[in-house]
This record gives sequence, structure tokens and C-alpha cells, in this order.
Amino acid sequence: MQTEILKPNKETYSFASKLINEGEVVAFPTETVYGLGADATNEEAVKKIFIAKGRPSDNPLIVHLSDKKDIVKYVFSINELEQQIIDKFMPGPISLVLRKNDKICPIVTAGGETVAIRIPENLVARDFIKACDKPICAPSANTSKRPSPTIAKHVYDDMNGKIPLIIDGGQTTVGIESTVVKVEDNEVYILRPGKISKEKLESELKCVVHEKFKPGKVVESPGTKYTHYKPRCDMILVKTDVINTIANLYNENTKKGKKVVIFCKQESLKYFDGMNAVSIGKDSNEASHNIFKYLRDYENNDLIIAEYFDNGTMVDGLYNRMSKSCSGNII
Ligand code: TXA
Ligand code: MG
Repeated sequence: MQTEILKPNKETYSFASKLINEGEVVAFPTETVYGLGADATNEEAVKKIFIAKGRPSDNPLIVHLSDKKDIVKYVFSINELEQQIIDKFMPGPISLVLRKNDKICPIVTAGGETVAIRIPENLVARDFIKACDKPICAPSANTSKRPSPTIAKHVYDDMNGKIPLIIDGGQTTVGIESTVVKVEDNEVYILRPGKISKEKLESELKCVVHEKFKPGKVVESPGTKYTHYKPRCDMILVKTDVINTIANLYNENTKKGKKVVIFCKQESLKYFDGMNAVSIGKDSNEASHNIFKYLRDYENNDLIIAEYFDNGTMVDGLYNRMSKSCSGNII
């Protein structure tokens, strides 16, 4: 199959809509990462997403809509706190898990009773969904286990020959995937951290917010269990005695003949003079915007040594992605 990359415009949207309504898969930009979209009401189309990604069928997909008023069409009910989340954070980088009705195919939700709903802030995403006039289920547009794509070229690298169209909306702004939340007993549970933080949810919603993604397991169970967002080379995330540890690791590994790159804060660059070091941002927000792109751009090294970011509002989201990228290899 020929994979076309087209800029977003009227003709592209009508071509994309035709493909989606024929049961094909189309990649599109959102503010977080690129998504691999299909008609969530067409089982055969959704199967193609799982095949193109090599994704296990027990991992449910997020359903993307262009307008808040469409949410009621696909869910069983919305309570007061859920409605507040919709009113305050959508459109935006958040996915809300709700009880689904039978309009969404079981394959989308991996047979479960709930569906994650997201309304992207990105206008290209919303125009594309609107043009299709269908609920669009979409995982990140990478091959399973690879870093999520934040530019059209990275989608192409993974999906060339597997899907007919990639809509090129430039580099995504947020850079890591949406915050996934669920309401239980009038309290909010964060299932996956993202740009919308615990603090932001608490201050806007005035309710208790739990971090369900944070069992402390990442550090305790390093190794093969974590197969998400992985670059093709080794990676170590450094949290302790950061500058000395990174410099020592760099020297040890280059002496062994390895090609090493350091991903660090802008302010730390000065400590790594003469070493192959790149700034991935001044804080966790900038680093989140860059991380997946840099992981792919620098994976031709033998080793990435990354600095932990403790500043900005996306500390949890960035740490969650980086700790998976390095398979729990954290010092
Ligand atoms: O920002 C994003 O969310 C991007 C863009 C494309 O919108 N999408 C994305 O999709 O990251 P994916 O499939 O790569 O990740 C979806 C996450 C998975 O961790 C999945 O387990 C969780 O959301 N999820 C989806 N439906 C769920 C549900 N009904 N209950 C709990 N978790 C769910
Ligand atoms: Mg993903």
C-alpha cells in the first residue's frame, strides 16, 4: 500500500473522510502525539489499527470526538463530577473514562464496559474528525513499544506501506499523551499522567485526586516488564547525584568504545563540556515536548543517559514516559 503524507486542507479532509468511511486507517496530528484513527463503529476498520501497530488486543483505544455535545451519544451516563471535567478541560489533553453504550464496538474497549473519551484541542484533529462524521478511535501512531510519534515523519517511519494517509500537521505541542482520568465515588483517579496534572485537577475540580499510575513499581521492577516508548539503543535515567553520575557513566561508557549521548536540562549543559550532550529543555514541559522526537533522533547511539527533570508542571508525565523508555533502568 502507498502511504501519502498530505498537509491539512479541505481536499485532504475530504479524502481522509472517504478513507475512514470506507473502513481505512488514517494518521492525524493532535496536540499530544499523532494518532492512528479509524471509525470506532466499524469493527473491521478497528482491527486494522491493531494490525498496523502490532498492538495486543487487550489494550483499549481512546475514542476521539470533535465536539462535547457528541459525548452523550456514546456513553451510558455522565455524573456531575464527570460533567465538570468535560466543561473545564475539554477540548484538551485529557481522556475521560466513562461507561460506554453499545454504539462503540467491543474491540475498541477490549471488551470492557467503559470507554475513554477525548476531544483534542488541535484544530486539525477536530476538523478531521468533523469531516469524517464518525467517532474516531485512535492509539498513538507508533508501532507498539516504540516512542510515540510527534512529527509526521516518525509516523511514516513506522507506518509506511501499512496505512493510506498521514495528515501532516507539523510537530505536536504537548509531546506526551493525554492524562487519562476516571471518576469513582466522587473522586478522580489519574490512570496515566499527562500535561493536566494532579494539582491542576484538584484546583479546578475541588475534589480528591488519586494517582493510580504511581505504585512505585517502576524503580522496584526494572527490566523487561516495561516495553513502552523504547528507543533502539540502551537508556539510563539518572535521578541521584545527577551531574557526577552522568559524567561518570559517560566517561566509563565512552572508554569502552560506546557512542553515548546525554539528554539534560538546559542549565546542566555547562557541566558536560566536551561531552556529547544535548539540552532537551529547561523544564519538564519543554522536555515533554521534545522527548519522543529526541529518543528517535538519537537512537543511533549505543546509550542515552538522561537527566531526571524535577521542575515544571509535567514532572510526573515526563518521568512516567522516561522511566518506561529506559525499561526501569533508573539510578
Ligand atoms: O494523547 C493521547 O491520548 C493519544 C492521542 C492520539 O489522542 N492517544 C493515546 O492512545 O495515547 P494509546 O492507545 O496509545 O493510549 C491509550 C491509553 C492506554 O494506556 C489505555 O490502556 C488507556 O488509555 N485506556 C483506553 N481506554 C481505556 C478505558 N476504557 N479504561 C482505562 N484505560 C483506558
Ligand atoms: Mg501509545
